[in-house]
Amino acid sequence: MKGILLAGGAGSRLYPLTAVVSKQLLPVYDKPLIYYPLSTMMLSGIRDVLIISTPAELPRFCELLGDGSSLGLSLTYAVQHAPRGIAEALCIGEHHVDDRGVCLALGDNVLYGSGLEPRLREAASQRTGATIFGYQVRDPSAYGVAEVDAAGRVLSLEEKPAAPRSSLAVVGLYFYDGNAPRFARELSPSPRGELEITDLNARYLREGTLRLSRLGRGTAWLDTGTPESLMAASAFVHAIEERQGLKVSCPEEIAFRLGYITAEQLERLASRYGSSAYGAYLRQIVREESAPHASGDSLVDVPVPTRPRVAA
Ligand code: G1P
Repeated sequence: MKGILLAGGAGSRLYPLTAVVSKQLLPVYDKPLIYYPLSTMMLSGIRDVLIISTPAELPRFCELLGDGSSLGLSLTYAVQHAPRGIAEALCIGEHHVDDRGVCLALGDNVLYGSGLEPRLREAASQRTGATIFGYQVRDPSAYGVAEVDAAGRVLSLEEKPAAPRSSLAVVGLYFYDGNAPRFARELSPSPRGELEITDLNARYLREGTLRLSRLGRGTAWLDTGTPESLMAASAFVHAIEERQGLKVSCPEEIAFRLGYITAEQLERLASRYGSSAYGAYLRQIVREESAPHASGDSLVDVPVPTRPRVAA
C-alpha cells in the first residue's frame, strides 16, 4: 500500500507562527511536526509516500526529506494549488494510487501508543473498503464525528457538528481501497468550497464498506492546530522522551529498526544532525547495536525483523 501525506493548509489558527512557515514544519518538542505522521506511515509498513503541499511550501519539505532514500523510503511530491479540501489530495495523487489502496495521513496529526502498530498494519492489510479511526475527545465539535452502534458499526458521520451525536472524533488517518480517487472525484464541494474527507468516508459508509477502528485509552492522538494544543503536544513528547530516554516518532530510528537502513546509514544520518541531542540519540543507537551484548529491549515498539537482539 502507498501513502499520501497532506501537508497543506494555511494554518491560520496558528498565525503569526505560520505566517511564513508551514504548520507541518513547526516543532513538536524536538522534531518537525511532519516527522510524526511520517513515522505513523512507516509503522503501518508504508514506504512509498507522496507528500502534497502548497506551491510555496513544497520546496521546504523536499529540502527536509529529499527523495526518502536515506530512510529506505520513496518520497515524491505534488502541489495542491489552493485549499480545496483534504479529499482533493486523492485526486491530486490519483496516479500514485493502485489497486492495493492508499493511506491518507494529515500532516498535523500526532499518534502515539504501544498498541498502535498492529492496528495500523491490520488497516493497511485490507484490500477492500475503508478504515477510519475513532478517538474519544472532550470537545468533538472541532472534528469529523462518528456515531456508532453497540457493535461498533458506524451509523453516521458529520463534519464539525454544532451538536455532536457522540464524543468519537475521526482521526486524520484514513486507509482506503483503490476506489478512493474515483469516489473523491465524484464529490461535490461543501458550502466552504472544499472536498470534505467526511463526505468521502460517508460514501464508503453508504457503500457498506466503512470500518471504524476505535483507539482507546492507551493511545494518544494529539491535535496541533492551536498554540495551546501545539504546546501540549510538545509537552507530552518531552515528558515521554525525558522519562524513557526513547524518542517518539523518530523516522531515522524506525527506518533502522524496520531494517530499511543499515547501522552505517544511520550513522551518516546522525552526522547530518551534528552535535544536537537528536544526532547523539541516533549515534547511541548505532553504538548499542554494535555492542557485543546489546540489551534485549527494543528502543521503540516495533519489530526488529532483520536484527533480532539476544535477550539478556
Ligand atoms: C480535518 C477533518 C476532520 C478530522 C480532522 C482530524 O479537520 O476535516 O474530519 O477529524 O482533520 O485532524 P481539520 O483539522 O483540517 O479542520
